[in-house]
Amino acid sequence: MTGPTVLRFGVFFQGVNFSTVWTEPESGSQTDFESFRRVAQTAERGLFSAFFLGEGLRLREHLGALHQLDVAGRPDAQTQLAALAAVTERIGLVATQNTTYNDPLDLAHRLASLDLLSGGRAAWNVVTTDNAWTGENFRRGGYLDHADRYRHAEAVVVATKKLWDTWDAEIAASAAADAWTADTPSELVEVDTGHYRATGRSRLPQSPQGRPVIFQAGDSAEGRDFAARQADVIFSAHSAFDDAKAFADDIRQRTLKAGRPAGDVKIFPGQEFILADTDAEAEEKARWVRRKQVTPQTAIAFLENIWGTDLSAYDPDGPLPEIDPVQEVSGETRGAGFRAAQAKATADAWRERAAAESLSIRELVIRLNSGCGFVGSPSSVAATLQRYADAHVVDGFNITPWLIPSGLDDIVDTLVPLLQERGIYPTEYARDTLRENLGLASVGRTQEARRTA
Ligand SMILES: Cc1cc2nc3c(=O)[nH]c(=O)nc-3n(C[C@H](O)[C@H](O)[C@H](O)COP(=O)(O)O)c2cc1C
Repeated sequence: MTGPTVLRFGVFFQGVNFSTVWTEPESGSQTDFESFRRVAQTAERGLFSAFFLGEGLRLREHLGALHQLDVAGRPDAQTQLAALAAVTERIGLVATQNTTYNDPLDLAHRLASLDLLSGGRAAWNVVTTDNAWTGENFRRGGYLDHADRYRHAEAVVVATKKLWDTWDAEIAASAAADAWTADTPSELVEVDTGHYRATGRSRLPQSPQGRPVIFQAGDSAEGRDFAARQADVIFSAHSAFDDAKAFADDIRQRTLKAGRPAGDVKIFPGQEFILADTDAEAEEKARWVRRKQVTPQTAIAFLENIWGTDLSAYDPDGPLPEIDPVQEVSGETRGAGFRAAQAKATADAWRERAAAESLSIRELVIRLNSGCGFVGSPSSVAATLQRYADAHVVDGFNITPWLIPSGLDDIVDTLVPLLQERGIYPTEYARDTLRENLGLASVGRTQEARRTA
């Protein structure tokens, strides 16, 4: 590979969770369209590749109450992105949609609709969803185990791509309504996942990017192999340099093994940026942000994930509980960071650290959540990003703003120009579609055929 990677940015609008600060005077609403519009248009001003929404189909419950650390107030991604398509022109629109509970043919149609509506800017972030309680929304009588979920997911994605690809490009290009029915424009596709069986055909022509871009999020060996075979982009949780490098090496090997060129799957870790005029000011700001993120209640809820019991009687400014967790391994409703953690060992390690550094519960939780994110002046953070670009360990970052809706302003106004000066960030949108703007190979016939037509 010659020269540094040209990095790209996405923005992950998260909704209510503990990493976004919703209590400041500048904080907007997590549901008003204005917040989404402002973030998406700022991102587009900064030439971001993608605006990204997660999916949470049920509010997480913990100890009989709604879980304090979980995401709430999140509108349906496809509806939200369809509205954003109307007020943006170039930015990609990424909808997280799980394969376990969505019906594939219906999902394919809705994503194709978003792709068409947005002029070829849609992407599907494929997740499998890791919890049984979400299944309670769907009357399916439980949910699939881990390996089955990925087998099912792959069959769904393969069938969906086939469905999208079978629309006859010539008929699509004619765009004449009667031509759609005079001929059979699409083939009948069978989906058979072992758990689900259906047949159907595409009802829509392809968008200018051929079909929606496929993102993937899911970190197990099965998840990574699935991405290596099927995805265009991975949304990863590996942003620290060494971790990002190890992850990229692993994915490239898996991609080669899947018979694709090593760099075919782009990697975008989620990442928080905290900027200020100087490094010292940024460090101070980061300390302030952490205290806003980790409220006294958040600190207790964080510990309850591991202890598995009500700790509300404990003082967040006091020492860690002396009682042991009531569970060996943390359960499934505890959130991704805690799932299957060795509860007793984790509690012991946290107590040891708190004692050694004289930390209260809240201070410990703040420490546990510090150290991630890029903190510094724009020029320092630009230098950090140059290191990633030179070493080719990521293709970009999916930025998680700690403040909505103004959290991207300083990134766009101060960091992006410095990255452009360094030649490691785009200076314009290359083309109109997300696939092209991410530098992905074209798919199907439509994209090229249309360009030369
Ligand atoms: C970065 C990242 C983002 C994710 N976002 C979502 C999401 O928005 N909605 C969801 O239901 N699951 C989400 N997941 C969870 C995946 O659906 C998957 O169930 C989980 O990671 C377990 O699979 P794994 O064992 O392969 O990691 C996400 C996972 C990762 C790593």
